[in-house]
Amino acid sequence: MPKKIGILTSGGDCAGLNAVIRAVVHAAAHKGWETHGILDGTAGLLGETPQTRLLTTEEFNGNVMRMGGTILGTTNKGDPFHYPMPDGSHKDRTSEIIDNYNKLGLDALISIGGDGSHDILRRIAQQGSIKMVGIPKTIDNDIGETETSVGYDTAVMVATEALDRLQPTAASHDRVMILEVMGRDAGHIALSTGIAGGADIILIPEIDYSMENIVATIKKVKKEERNFALIVVSEAVKTPQGEKVAAKNSEGKTLYGGIGAYIADEISKKAEVEARVTVLGHVQRGSPPTYRDRLLATAFGVKAVNLIDEGKFDRMVAWKNREVVDIAIADAIKAYHAVDPDDTLVHTARGIGISFGD
Ligand code: F6P
Repeated sequence: MPKKIGILTSGGDCAGLNAVIRAVVHAAAHKGWETHGILDGTAGLLGETPQTRLLTTEEFNGNVMRMGGTILGTTNKGDPFHYPMPDGSHKDRTSEIIDNYNKLGLDALISIGGDGSHDILRRIAQQGSIKMVGIPKTIDNDIGETETSVGYDTAVMVATEALDRLQPTAASHDRVMILEVMGRDAGHIALSTGIAGGADIILIPEIDYSMENIVATIKKVKKEERNFALIVVSEAVKTPQGEKVAAKNSEGKTLYGGIGAYIADEISKKAEVEARVTVLGHVQRGSPPTYRDRLLATAFGVKAVNLIDEGKFDRMVAWKNREVVDIAIADAIKAYHAVDPDDTLVHTARGIGISFGD
């Protein structure tokens, strides 16, 4: 029997989401199945009528997958178990989502999301007996049980290019250039970018630092090596006193930003050099995907469709040892993946003299 499958993107967008959707649409069509896109994540299943559209191989003829973002739209707010209502109260709206999903008559659902989204979606799927397969995406690369997730490679490429552009201006002005990158509580983007982009110092939430060590490294670089220095700092790095540099939005979500400015200020005072900051922000999410993200997205999309064909649900596709595999979604959620201070890339960075300020 031809199947009807649904697909949605959930949480923050990143590069490669459209490449995943394209792979799913084509792999499903290859089996004679239909793919229905659910719009704006779970928000598309709230209200009277489910918001969906049929996705065709004609639409995904090769152009859409080159684009950043997600053509389905997404949301990273409004937890359906605790949905903020206009009157300030909160409501469990999961039964609305399940009812709307059932109205669509879908055989299975493919969810593209991070650990937070998959935690929510898995609980909804269990409650509504929805047959779900997950695909990991996040620029933060913090999902456990997979070596990498869709969007991470592109974010690192964008951040590395930013360092390439900061280096000449740093050298022209004898400055210390600080690049603040995203990643939430995991320092993967900063670590990879710092190595690939030639940073002198990498600051990540997983390794404590002191201002004295940073200042000493900068003075050493300026005295013995060259007239400028480059620093990459991950957004969730705290001050040496352990204070978070972040704000809360109206939903109470922590929005990081500002640690770069703090470090620049301290360096200007203590190392007596000019320091400038670039906060890369959402630029890391909107670029066309790299070839690696496109390959990963395609391999993940095809595997997800095959899992549905095999009747394997509550599974997430993952990349391990040069292979696409599938694991229990619950295991991926449990195994949060921050940078291990003993990680091979941490040793690599130290091996070429990069300081972590520790
Ligand atoms: O999780 C992805 C991410 O880009 C984080 O690196 C960042 O802290 C956060 O999302 C930003 O969220 P928002 O898009 O809500 O500003």
